[in-house]
Amino acid sequence: MKLPKTATLWEMGARDGLQNEHAIVSADDKVRYIDLLSQTGLRWIEATSFVSPKAIPQLADAADVFARIAKAPGVRYPVLVPNTKGYERAKEGGADTIAMFTAASEAFTKRNINMTIEESIAVFADVVRAAKADGLYVRGYVSTAFGSPFGDVVRPQAVVDVSVRLMEMGCDELSVGDTIGVGVPSQVDELVPMLAAKIPLERIAMHFHDTRGTALANVYAALQNGISMFDASAGGLGGCPYAPGATGNVGTEDVLYLLHSMGVDTGVDLARVRAASRFIAGVLDHALTSKAYQAFEAADARSAAGL
Ligand code: HMG
Ligand code: MG
Repeated sequence: MKLPKTATLWEMGARDGLQNEHAIVSADDKVRYIDLLSQTGLRWIEATSFVSPKAIPQLADAADVFARIAKAPGVRYPVLVPNTKGYERAKEGGADTIAMFTAASEAFTKRNINMTIEESIAVFADVVRAAKADGLYVRGYVSTAFGSPFGDVVRPQAVVDVSVRLMEMGCDELSVGDTIGVGVPSQVDELVPMLAAKIPLERIAMHFHDTRGTALANVYAALQNGISMFDASAGGLGGCPYAPGATGNVGTEDVLYLLHSMGVDTGVDLARVRAASRFIAGVLDHALTSKAYQAFEAADARSAAGL
C-alpha cells in the first residue's frame, strides 16, 4: 500500500455545500458554520463565492459573510471568483486566496459561467495576473473532469490541456473535479499520471462528488497515485446548480475517517467537524449524507441512552 504520511483537506461545506441548498441559509448561520469549521484544524475553508447573485442567489451575501467570519490564525478562507468583477469584490472584501473555475466540458462551461473554455481562460489570465500582482494565492478548478451532465464526452487529454493552461497562467494549485460524481478509480488511475507528467503532484487536489457512491473509492485511488490534497464537505453537502443531478461532495467526516484509520495524518479533529455539521443540519431541511457523520452521531446517541 503506497500512502502519504499526511494529507490536506479543503473544506467545501460553506461554498459548494450551501450553493446547492434550495433554502437560503441566513448570513448569521453561515458565519456560525464557518466559525465552527475554523475550530477543527482545517487550514483551508472555502468561505463563499463572489459570483453573480443572479446565478447563485444562495451566496448573494458573500461580502457580508466574508467580512463577519472570525478569521483564525493559520487558516485560509478561499473565495470563488468567476471574472474581473468577482475579483474586485473579493479584493475589496480582503480575500487573500481566490479560486477560479473552468471545466473540461464545453457544454458545462457555457451553462455554468456563460463562456467557452477559451473565453474563460482569457478572462482568468487577466484575473490571475492581477491577483498575483496583489500577492494572493490562486487555485484553478477544472470541473467535469470525469464526465459531463450534458452528454458530451470528456477525454482525459482535455482535462490535462485545461489544467496545464491554468498552471501556466500562474495558478498556484489545481483542483480537478468530478462535478457530477460519475468517476471511478480506473479513471483516476488513468488521469492522475497524465496530469503528474505535466504538473507537480503536490499542486494537484482532487474534488470528488459522491452522486453514485464512488467518491471515497476515488479518494483512495488518488492517494495511491500520490495525491495528498482533497476537497470535501462537512456532512457531505454540495453540488452545482448548473450540473443537473449533481449531489454532495464526499463528506469531510468520511475522508477523515478513511485517512486517519489508515494512518494518514490531517491535523483535523473529526469530532469538531461533526459539531459544525450538527449545527448546519439543524438549519437545513434534510438529513446529512456523510456516512461517518451518521455513524458517529448514532453511536453517541446510543451511548447517551446507555445502550
Ligand atoms: P453573465 O450573465 O454572462 O455575466 O454571467 P455578465 O458579465 O454579462 O453580467 C451580467 C450581470 O451580472 C451584470 O449585472 C453584471 O454586473 C453581473 P446587471 O448589469 O445585469 O445588473 N455580474 C456580477 N455580479 C456580481 N459578481 C460577479 C458578477 N459578474 C457579473 N462576479 C457569470 C457570467 C460568470 C457572472 C455567471 O454565469 C456566474 O456568476 N456563474 C457562476 C456559476 C457558479 O457559481 N456555479 C457554481 C460554482 S462552480 C462549481 O460548483 C464546481 C466546483 O465545485 C468544482 C466541481 O465540482 O467540479 C468548483
Ligand atoms: Mg464541486
